[in-house]
Amino acid sequence: MIFAAILAGGIGSRMGGTDTPKQFLTLGDKPVIVHTIEKFVINSNIDQIIVLTPKNFINHTNHLIEKYIPDYRDVVVIEGGQTRNDTILNSINYIKENHGIDDESIIITHDSVRPFLTHRIIEDNIRAAKRYGACDTVIPATDTIVESINGTTIESIPVRDYYYQGQTPQSFNIKKLFNLINSLTEEESNILTDACKIFTLKDEDVYLVEGEVTNIKITYPYDLKLANTILEDIHD
Ligand code: CTP
Repeated sequence: MIFAAILAGGIGSRMGGTDTPKQFLTLGDKPVIVHTIEKFVINSNIDQIIVLTPKNFINHTNHLIEKYIPDYRDVVVIEGGQTRNDTILNSINYIKENHGIDDESIIITHDSVRPFLTHRIIEDNIRAAKRYGACDTVIPATDTIVESINGTTIESIPVRDYYYQGQTPQSFNIKKLFNLINSLTEEESNILTDACKIFTLKDEDVYLVEGEVTNIKITYPYDLKLANTILEDIHD
């Protein structure tokens, strides 16, 4: 089976100014999270969409789905976790309890606050996760990357051609991801902020899927302005 986990368990502290997490703010004529869910709903290869939100936003999210995606199918809303990786783990536990985990099933994990992912990106993720077991969506770094350990002076300036900016989706063979998560020591769990990092830490290959510059993550208020501009551009 193919599952999509839409990660919406965060509180958007860097967005500031509001008690409403950024995934529920309005972009164009509907909430950010609705734009994101819609991209998965139209993909007929996906068997179930799992949306993970803070506990007190589960009802609200269900109402949004009923309102904006009337022909919704196989969308379930459950509670996210304390960290982003905990949220992913909650989606895997849900799959385990409700469907079991076989050798073939894959999960496409995606930030709810990246509403502009494309059908092509989702399809490429499905293909790469099935074939290789793990993939990450990236775009080549355009700015020169500067490394500084102390925050005052430059340690090194790596060759830019080797560097990419990570986006999402990140997609995995569920069994492989589950086994790797369970093999982590507590120390390793604490330093892991990214699901693909679990694979690289354990010397497992993660394949690159080409992202899009428009597949932005809404993090700061300026990003929401930018997102509105991208939306207008898409509609032109
Ligand atoms: N996320 C999640 N569960 C968490 C933390 C984050 O599902 N415990 C999700 C967010 O909802 C978001 C995505 O992961 O869709 C990317 O994370 P980020 O942009 O860091 O979101 P927040 O944690 O909400 O933002 P901030 O760090 O500013 O508080």
